[in-house]
Amino acid sequence: MQTQINPAPTNSELPYNLAQWKQGYRSQKQEYDYQITEIDGEIPAELTGTLFRNGPGLLDINDISVRHPFDGDGMICQITFHNGKAYFRNRFIQTKAYLAERAANKFLYRGVFGTQKTGGWLSNVLDLNLKNIANTQVIYWGGKLLALWEAAEPYRLDPKTLATLGIEYLNNTLKPGDAFAAHPLIDPIQNRMVNFALKAGKFDRTGLVTTLTIYELDLDGEVVAAHPHTIPGFAFIHDFAITPNYCIFFQNPVGFNLFPFLFGLKGAGECVKFQPEQPTKIVIIPRDPHSGEVVQTLETKSGFVFHHANAFERDGKISIDSICYGSFPEVPPDIDFRDTDFNTLAPGQLWRFELDLKNRRVDSQLIEPRCCEFPTINPANVGQPYRYTYIGAAQTLDGNAPLQSILKLDRDSGTQQLWTAAPQGYVGEPVFVPHPQGTQEDDGWLIVMVYNGVRDRSAVVVLDAADLTKGAIATLHLTHHIPYGLHGSWTDTVFIDDLAHS
Ligand code: CO
Repeated sequence: MQTQINPAPTNSELPYNLAQWKQGYRSQKQEYDYQITEIDGEIPAELTGTLFRNGPGLLDINDISVRHPFDGDGMICQITFHNGKAYFRNRFIQTKAYLAERAANKFLYRGVFGTQKTGGWLSNVLDLNLKNIANTQVIYWGGKLLALWEAAEPYRLDPKTLATLGIEYLNNTLKPGDAFAAHPLIDPIQNRMVNFALKAGKFDRTGLVTTLTIYELDLDGEVVAAHPHTIPGFAFIHDFAITPNYCIFFQNPVGFNLFPFLFGLKGAGECVKFQPEQPTKIVIIPRDPHSGEVVQTLETKSGFVFHHANAFERDGKISIDSICYGSFPEVPPDIDFRDTDFNTLAPGQLWRFELDLKNRRVDSQLIEPRCCEFPTINPANVGQPYRYTYIGAAQTLDGNAPLQSILKLDRDSGTQQLWTAAPQGYVGEPVFVPHPQGTQEDDGWLIVMVYNGVRDRSAVVVLDAADLTKGAIATLHLTHHIPYGLHGSWTDTVFIDDLAHS
């Protein structure tokens, strides 16, 4: 791995190798515990704490592949940093479905993204029992480690051993079958975890409606606010953004085709249809349900958003930065997701939207045209004005391509830095870890999992968030690969005894 600044590869010289990229989507069925000893560079002595990271670990059963990686069973990686040393552990979340399918050695549940039960069409008809795979995010809050998947309840894990403790109902706030989204945000001013739950596709007297419930949890993990809101139409909302006063949602212009789903032909995710002629609706919900303010909905151009970088209030307006696609990135029917033709997919690009609530106006501006995903920022700036965005980015300057680089955008100076793992490396989400004595917004580290397609192994890479151009400070080589993951989070707590006392 080496550092380059804004390389410009030509089309004939792709910076990635599709066959090697595909290898990173193999299951990792082994569970490991070991101290990481193969390290290039040095782990900073001040870097103390635990990175938890979630993602699909099991992508096949008995050599039958999931239809989409989002259907893979959740596996947690725990990387503990202490005294310049690092320790790795991974465990599958022992969900009801994981245990049952492992015992049966075949798919017993339908996956949202189209993985069907073994047995074909007939065994999938009218089976609405979706699989809670807990594979999207993992967060330590209020003394509990929670593995999250947006369509069901969290699973609680032991933060030390990663043993699965069971379904978590947040002190009876959630009922069996309730959802709890996989994108909680920590409000650094109020010290609260804010999250939402989406219940789409109910009918009331006005037609099809969606219920969005806002949850706020204090430092002890107590639910201190829970308020439901009904919005018209179907909604497929993965992430949101907060400011001190608002929760902001992008209701992507999509419809839902119920019939192929009911008849077992497709997964729910495959029945989501992008409607390019419809606008994107921006739903702004006051965080204080007693503020007297009503829910507002503004409209902007059609597009599809999975992730937001941040939002903040300034001069009576709300700014929100989001990764937008020209359309919903679908896996075409009868194609294995590993055979994705990147050239046929719209790239995700970073946009800023300015919401003028008073004049009900939305202005939008393209910030970064390079294909990017998984934005992150210093957690102290969540919901606040901010300067730096860090994002996984393609190596190519245009079009869609695998993420191979980490891009740092400086919104004050308009400059950017790029660290790249190309041509052999493929990156996941960067997680920002603030320096304990930091004074500047970019004082800290980025920790990113990188799959190396030549070595067929993964590494945990530590970058200096203040200066990506100096290259990796430390590359911690794992002894095996970890399939491409989704989201992770950091806590300053060290849970493993033998490291905490060394
Ligand atoms: Co996400």
